[in-house]
Amino acid sequence: MILLGVNIDHCATLRQARYRDAAGAEGGAVEPDPVAFAAAAERAGADGITVHLREDRRHIQDRDVWRLRESVTTRLNLEMACTPAMIALALKLKPEFVCIVPENRLEVTTEGGLDVVGNRDRVRECVAAMNAAGIKASLFIDPDAPQIDASAELGAPFVELHTGAYAHAYFTPQRAAEFDRLRRGCELARARGLTVNAGHGINYVNIAEVRTLPHLHELNIGHSIVSRAVFTGVDEAVREMKRLMNLPANHANSRE
Ligand code: PXP
Repeated sequence: MILLGVNIDHCATLRQARYRDAAGAEGGAVEPDPVAFAAAAERAGADGITVHLREDRRHIQDRDVWRLRESVTTRLNLEMACTPAMIALALKLKPEFVCIVPENRLEVTTEGGLDVVGNRDRVRECVAAMNAAGIKASLFIDPDAPQIDASAELGAPFVELHTGAYAHAYFTPQRAAEFDRLRRGCELARARGLTVNAGHGINYVNIAEVRTLPHLHELNIGHSIVSRAVFTGVDEAVREMKRLMNLPANHANSRE
């Protein structure tokens, strides 16, 4: 079974649109509450909760991650930049997982994943700190051999392959090539001993193909689930994604 990490950043985006200055305030008037969203997602079968505490704090706030640390009953996955401040915070927070993501243009590959090859020393230091603390580190990378090889070499137990280029190409002639690139990335990562997660831009349509990628351990999905939840509620949005992710391999998808 492929596991589902529900990324709740965009629940916080909606809250910040109205309550930027009051997001830390107590009381039911500050809505929607990402912590309540996380609890509802867990009740619906989410296998983990993912948040990105960005340096610019544009959606998730510090207080959110501490409240989540208290309330999440599955696994907390903190997406974070590879900086001394975020490393220190993760070591205090002790999420079960961290996913190292780029925030600064210099750390980004052309496709948008973390440039592990170009930032070996910093990434090595971050992975070593997490390994020593018993926090499982994942590197959010493009599905390309040099980045996969470097991730394995630095001792990261997980990679999260960036599905954004594929999702972007979904309705274009490049889709097949991008899918094949992901497929080869999954195979290579597995061959290098890495556990393979994937995420970014996965939705209720492209999941029919994404779920057929080999060796997938977990998908991290945010925007499409939060968007669907606006219409159906969190419970239905999460259940439907989990159902679609884990249809039998030979199931004919109605959209194909
Ligand atoms: N994985 C990582 C590393 C991310 O940074 C994000 C958010 O951009 C996601 C997964 C979820 O992407 P989306 O919101 O497009 O589902």
